[in-house]
Amino acid sequence: MLLNRIEYALMNNPVRAAIQRHLEARRLLQMGGPLRGGYALEIGCGRGVGGQIILERFEAATVDAFDLDPRMVRLARKRLEPFESRVRLWVGDATAIPAPDSTYDAVFDFGIIHHIPRWRSAIAEIHRVLKPNGRFYAEEVLKPFVDHPISRRLFEHPRTDRFDREEFCKGLTEEGLDLIATKEVMQSFAWFVADKRAAG
Ligand SMILES: C[S@@+](CC[C@H](N)C(=O)[O-])C[C@H]1O[C@@H](n2cnc3c(N)ncnc32)[C@H](O)[C@@H]1O
Repeated sequence: MLLNRIEYALMNNPVRAAIQRHLEARRLLQMGGPLRGGYALEIGCGRGVGGQIILERFEAATVDAFDLDPRMVRLARKRLEPFESRVRLWVGDATAIPAPDSTYDAVFDFGIIHHIPRWRSAIAEIHRVLKPNGRFYAEEVLKPFVDHPISRRLFEHPRTDRFDREEFCKGLTEEGLDLIATKEVMQSFAWFVADKRAAG
């Protein structure tokens, strides 16, 4: 689901970039460590700050990234120009990722899955494109925030079948992603690191 005008503005400003860099990414790095040379995918890349973080802080060798919103992909393309040979960008949907099975060492989600009506389909796709033992890093917005009357007024999110931390963890496990670490703040935001179970 595309962002409404208010959320689009909130996602495209220096404050958002600072939160992503200094809070969200830092915590994911503490929980899951860097990649040191791997091939990464970012779903819902927004304006490309995440791609830069994945290259510079998580030390991925290359990153593929996509977003449902062509305007975001245009902004990301501009921001990631200096990394041109290490980045591939496209307009796309996290419930139908155009990559073969077992392609990526890591997949990153900076707050996009709560925008997807059929969020379990996105988890299934992430699981499919990860290599065995590949790592999923996620920062997500939880049901109490999505359902809060103020955020309902301000933002546009899918309303049915939203997840709290436990439900998201269950969704990961059921798809074959084993939880390594998770943290929650104010029952509204949570971080997850999970690894794709290697075939037994
Ligand atoms: C809350 S914004 C986060 C953007 C960016 N990851 C960040 O942290 O700044 C959610 C993003 O997910 C994108 N999005 C929503 N549904 C999507 C889907 N099904 N597939 C890919 N991207 C999607 C939106 O266009 C938007 O850019």
